[in-house]
Amino acid sequence: MADLAVLRECLCVLVAMAAAVSWSGVVRAAEALGMNWGTQASHPLSPKVVAQVLTDNGIKKVKLFDADHDTLSALAGTGVEVMVAIPNVMLDVMTDYDTAKEWVRRNVSRYNFDGGGTIK
Ligand SMILES: *[C@@H]1O[C@H](CO)[C@@H](O)[C@H](O)[C@H]1NC(C)=O
Repeated sequence: MADLAVLRECLCVLVAMAAAVSWSGVVRAAEALGMNWGTQASHPLSPKVVAQVLTDNGIKKVKLFDADHDTLSALAGTGVEVMVAIPNVMLDVMTDYDTAKEWVRRNVSRYNFDGGGTIK
């Protein structure tokens, strides 16, 4: 049963990768392949497994939809370039500069160290 869940997750990742390739339309010219990594799934995989799937498949960039600690920790040291989005529910409070600065300091900058995450 667990194997089936892993297979299903991997298939989702592959479908997302295939979609990313077909969207680009310039597959031969692409130097790097990126993908979106959403964390809402019926059978979520461990972030370490997903990070391994990304690196094993040559994915160089990933967009996250939140600043989940386990996800950012799993990506640290992989060389995968990470773009972190602010969750929609937090957009309203982020209009305050000091609140936004504190969120970035606590949830993003802490992973941006030498040998850590490559965060854009
Ligand atoms: C990020 O930081 C804020 C405080 O600035 C905190 O409320 C929030 O829970 C933190 N975590 C995430 C994943 O955004």
